[in-house]
Amino acid sequence: MNQHHSLAPEALKQLFTEARTHHHWSSQPVSNETLQALYDLTKWGPTAVNANPLRIVFVKSEEAKAKLIPHLMGSNVDQVKQAPVTAIIAHDERFFDHLPTLFPVADMKPYFEKDKAAADVLALRNGSLQGAYFMIAARALGLDVGPMSGFNNAGVDETFLSGTSWKSNFLVNVGYGDASKVYPRGPRLDFETVAKII
Ligand SMILES: Cc1cc2nc3c(=O)[nH]c(=O)nc-3n(C[C@H](O)[C@H](O)[C@H](O)COP(=O)(O)O)c2cc1C
Repeated sequence: MNQHHSLAPEALKQLFTEARTHHHWSSQPVSNETLQALYDLTKWGPTAVNANPLRIVFVKSEEAKAKLIPHLMGSNVDQVKQAPVTAIIAHDERFFDHLPTLFPVADMKPYFEKDKAAADVLALRNGSLQGAYFMIAARALGLDVGPMSGFNNAGVDETFLSGTSWKSNFLVNVGYGDASKVYPRGPRLDFETVAKII
């Protein structure tokens, strides 16, 4: 397949220029099949040594939502209450257990198992990248997203991830947003400010 062409302008609008962060949600549910399709797109984004450190807890049931609410700050409480699904974007600090399968070309597991600092940098960097792929994949599937870092990570880890090597990074509300209630669009920095071509 020849991939060396730009997506159609409509697709670029949906993914980037007209895509907005949503804070208010319709009651339209998101099926478990859609959540699986969302991961099945997300997983193809690149990660260092193909480590795939992203882990996700989809908080969907009323019972699970109730456990998440106490860890949230400010308006994030109402946002999570309204959204049909809130994804805990986490990473596995023991991602290297999967490296023999994911990256058989070189034996990298012993290196990361011995060097926790290097492993933690890789997990956070690549888990964050995969969190970004997740949001763009959601938009590609016609979903809206509302990322949030205003919450108590330690509390979420204790409530949802205890007994695992997973650590929470940020949250993403997923669903169908109320476009009439998006916040005013903030500007973005221009090319001259952020980039140099040398
Ligand atoms: C990692 C991350 C954390 C964020 N945390 C919060 C949050 O805690 N609460 C909130 O209401 N919005 C939060 N936001 C939303 C941002 O303010 C919003 O995405 C940004 O202003 C761009 O808005 P736009 O996509 O509508 O242009 C967060 C966004 C990101 C990517």
